[in-house]
Amino acid sequence: MDKRLAPLTVFRLNGAEVAVAPRVGERLSESLRERLGARDVKVGCNAGDCGACTVLVDGDPVCACLMPAQQAAGREVETLAGLVAHEPLAAEMARRFEAQGAAQCGICTPGMMVSAVALLRAVPTPDERQVMDALGGVLCRCTGYRKIIDAVMGRAPAARQDELGHAGAAIEKLDGRPKVAGRERFGDDVAPADALVIRVIRSPYPRARFHFGDLAAFAARPGIAAVLTAADVPGRNLFGTIPGFIDQPVFAEAETRFRGEAVACVVGAPETMALFDPDDFPVNWEPLPDVQNMSDARGAGAPLLHRGRNGNVMCGGFVAHGDVDAALARADVVVEGRFETAFVEHAYIEPEAGFAEVVGGRVEVHACTQAPVMDLETLETVLGMDRAQIRVVPTAAGGGFGAKLDVSVQPFLTIAALKTGRPVRLAYERSESMQSTTKRHPADMRVRIGATQDGKICGLRFDGFFNTGAYASWGPTVANRVPVHASGPYRVPDYRAEATGIHTHCPPAGAFRGFGVPQAAVAQESLFDELADKLGIDRLDFRIRNALRNGEPTVCGQVFEQGVGIGACLEALRPAWETERAAAAVVNAQRDVVKRGVGIAAGWYGCGNTSLPNPSTIKAGVRVDGQIVLHQGAADIGQGANTVIAQIFAQALGVPVRALELVGGDTDVTPDAGKTSASRQTFVTGNAARLAGAALRAEILQRANAGDGATIVTGSGVIEVREDGRVQAIDLAALAEDTQGYVLRSEETYDPPTQPLDENGQGVPYAQFGYAAHLCVLEVDTALGTVTPVKFVAAHDVGRAINPLLVEGQVEGGIAQGMGMALMEEYLPGRTENLHDYLIPTIGDMPPVETLIIEEPDAHGPFGAKGLGEHVLIPTAPAILNAIRDATGVQMRKLPVTPSRLRAALKEADHG
Ligand code: FES
Ligand code: FES
Repeated sequence: MDKRLAPLTVFRLNGAEVAVAPRVGERLSESLRERLGARDVKVGCNAGDCGACTVLVDGDPVCACLMPAQQAAGREVETLAGLVAHEPLAAEMARRFEAQGAAQCGICTPGMMVSAVALLRAVPTPDERQVMDALGGVLCRCTGYRKIIDAVMGRAPAARQDELGHAGAAIEKLDGRPKVAGRERFGDDVAPADALVIRVIRSPYPRARFHFGDLAAFAARPGIAAVLTAADVPGRNLFGTIPGFIDQPVFAEAETRFRGEAVACVVGAPETMALFDPDDFPVNWEPLPDVQNMSDARGAGAPLLHRGRNGNVMCGGFVAHGDVDAALARADVVVEGRFETAFVEHAYIEPEAGFAEVVGGRVEVHACTQAPVMDLETLETVLGMDRAQIRVVPTAAGGGFGAKLDVSVQPFLTIAALKTGRPVRLAYERSESMQSTTKRHPADMRVRIGATQDGKICGLRFDGFFNTGAYASWGPTVANRVPVHASGPYRVPDYRAEATGIHTHCPPAGAFRGFGVPQAAVAQESLFDELADKLGIDRLDFRIRNALRNGEPTVCGQVFEQGVGIGACLEALRPAWETERAAAAVVNAQRDVVKRGVGIAAGWYGCGNTSLPNPSTIKAGVRVDGQIVLHQGAADIGQGANTVIAQIFAQALGVPVRALELVGGDTDVTPDAGKTSASRQTFVTGNAARLAGAALRAEILQRANAGDGATIVTGSGVIEVREDGRVQAIDLAALAEDTQGYVLRSEETYDPPTQPLDENGQGVPYAQFGYAAHLCVLEVDTALGTVTPVKFVAAHDVGRAINPLLVEGQVEGGIAQGMGMALMEEYLPGRTENLHDYLIPTIGDMPPVETLIIEEPDAHGPFGAKGLGEHVLIPTAPAILNAIRDATGVQMRKLPVTPSRLRAALKEADHG
C-alpha cells in the first residue's frame, strides 16, 4: 500500500455515504471534485480567499479548499447540486437567483448559494446586513452583488414572464439553470479524472537567462509522461493578437521577459503531479537587470525587450483635429494635470483551465475563452497544423473581462496532447493566473483643457504613456483607441491626443473592459470638474453644455446624425444630482471628520473594432422534427450573449425565444461570431442574428406564399404559417435534409460599416458609440483616509435595451470593477499575486446602484441596440474621484486612492 495514502475516509455527501482514500493533507475540495465527481464545488484560489469552494459541513459553510479531506470523516457534507436537488429552500434559492439575474458567469454561484442556504436555514428573513455578513467570504467579479442580495432577501423578481421574449423583454437568462443547479461546466470541469496533468515551470525573475539541466532524465522519472520546452513547439513558438505584433513565445527561449513567464511544462499522472514540486525541475536561472516602470524603460541604456522596435516603444496612436495649441492659447481658462493609474488584474474567479485530447488524429481543446476562432487561428500557427485538424470547444467561462481573449492554457494543452497522445488537463493556480495573464495598462497621462468664459471647451491635449509590459497583446488596440476617446463624449473643436505603448519587464497588459478608455476618462473627467469650478458653472451643466449632439463632429470628424445619447444620460442624472448635493450639504454641516461628496462623470465607447473589419456570422436551421436550432458562437462569459442574441434572432424570425434550441461555440459546427470584446456582441453578432432570423423567415413565408405580417408557428414535423385566418402548413418531412441535418437553413454575416482613419486620425472608426454618465455619493473619513461609497446612479444609453435585466447586471458589475480600479486594485508583480493581497470589492463594499436606461436608438443597431459591456465602468472611477474632491477639496491624481494615499493628500492639503 502507498504509505502516502491515509486510511479510508467515510462521510455523507449530499445524503449518501461515500468513502475516499485521500492523500495525507489532501484538500476536501480535491476529494470532492476528483474522487467523487462533485465538480459543482469550484476552486478559485485554493487559499480561502474567494469562497467559490464553499460547502456545508454539518450545516456550516466551510471553504473546502482549506479543510483536509480526512476531517470530513463521519460528517455530513452538502454541495450546491445536492442542496438544489434535495432541499426545497435551495431549490427556491435557485429560482430566485435566476429571476434576479444573480448568476452571470456562475462560477461564484455555488459558493454564494450554499452560503445563502446556511443563512436562510438559521434566519428565514434576513436583513441586508445579515446577507452581507453571511456572503462576505464569497467573491463575485461579475454582478456587483446587488442582485445576489436581492435574491437572498427574496425581493420581488426582476425578470418578467414574457410569452415571446423579444427585444425589450427582461426575461431570465436562457442558460441560467445549469449555473444555479451546480451543473455548469467550466474550464476545469470537463476533463476525465484520469487525464494527465500539466504544470507550467515559470520564471521567478522579471528578466533572467536560463538553461536546463538533464531534461531527459527528468522526463524518465516514474509518473512523468513528458517535459515540454520551446524545442517541442511543432509550429511557430509565437502568439499574439494583432498582426505585426505577434511577439509572445509559448515557452521563453534563453531569456525571460517577465516574472511568471513559462519556460517549460511537465506532464504527468494525476497522483504524481499532485506531489510535484516545481523547485525539483532542472533549470538554472541567472537574473538580469530589468525595467519595471515606463520612465526607466525609456531611459538611456535601458535593456531593450524587443529588437526592431523603437527602443522600448511598442507603438503609438494619434488623433488631431484643428489647432489645439492656438485654442489653448486663446482659452479664457486652462486646467492641466498629470494622472497615473495602476496595473489592474481581471481577477475573474475562474483561473484559466482546460482539457485537450487527440480524437481521430485531430486535436480538440475544451477551455474557457472569449475568442474560440482566434484561439483556433493561434493554434494553427503554434502547432503548425491545418486548421481542419484542430477543434476548439469553449467551456463555460467563469468571467473574462478581456484577459480570456488571449490564449493561455490552449497551446500547452494541445502540444501536450499531441506529444503524449493522451487526454491532458491544465488549470492555472491563482498565483500563476495573476502572474502570467494580461492586465489593464497602467497609464501616465498629461492633459490640458481650455474653455472660453461662456463655458465652451475650445481645446484639449492628451499625452498618455501606457505600460504594455513584456509583450504587445492588445497594446496596439489601446494605443489606437485611447486617442479616439480621450475627449470624452463632448464637442472639442481643437484636439490632439497621443497614446504610446511602452514595454517593460512586467506581465503583458492587454484587453480589460475599455481598452484604455477608463484610464483616459479619469484624467479628462477630473479636469472637467476643475474647469467647471474655475468658470463658476455647475459641473453637470458644464458637461451638458459641451455634450456631443446629433449632427456635430467627434474629434475624428465623424458626424452622427442620430443616436447620440450623452445629453439624455446627463439630463437623467439631474434629479439625483440636485437631491444628493442638497443632502450632502446638510450632512456636512453637521460633521467635521466624515465628509460626504457627490461626483459625476461621463463616458463613451465605440462598439467593435477601431476602423477594422470585425464580422460576425450566425447560422440557424430547422430540423425535420420542427425544432429551430440557433448556432450562436459569441462567447457568453456571463454578460448574457446567449440570451440577447437569441432574443434578437427570435424577434426577426417571429417565434418565441423559448422555441429555440441553442448550439454554442464549437469551431466544428458553429460559424465565427468574432471575439467577445469591444462591446461588439449585441451590436455585431446581434445584427447577424437579426439578418439570419429575417432570412429564415423570408424563406418560410415564401414557401407558404404569405405576406410579411404572417405568423410562424412551429410544431412537430411541421411549420404553420397563419395569415388572415388562413393556415398554411409546411410539411418538413417533404423537404430534403442538407448535409448539416437541416431542412431549412440560413446563415448571415454582419460587419459594421467603418472607414480607415487618415494620418490625423480622421475618419469613421465606429458605426456606433454607446454613452454613459454616473453619479456617485460617497463619504470620506478625513482622519483615516477611507472612502465609503454610499450610492451610484448610472444612466446608460443602450439604444434599445434588448434585455433590461441583463443591462442592469452589466451596469452593477461594471460599477463594482470601476470602484475597485478607483479605490483598491493595484497589481504589483511579486507582491499582490493572490486574492488576499490583491483586493477586489466584496459584497460589503457595494452600495445600491440605481440604473437609468436611456434608449436613443441607433440606426445600425439590431432593433436600435448599442453595445454596453465596456461602457459600464468608464465613468465610475472619475465619478468617485470627483466625489472625493467634492467631499474634501482634494483632487486625487493617482489610482488607486488607497487610504494611505488619500490620508497623505489630505494632510498635505491641511485636513490632517
Ligand atoms: Fe477555496 Fe477560493 S477556492 S476559498
Ligand atoms: Fe459571480 Fe461571475 S457571476 S463571479
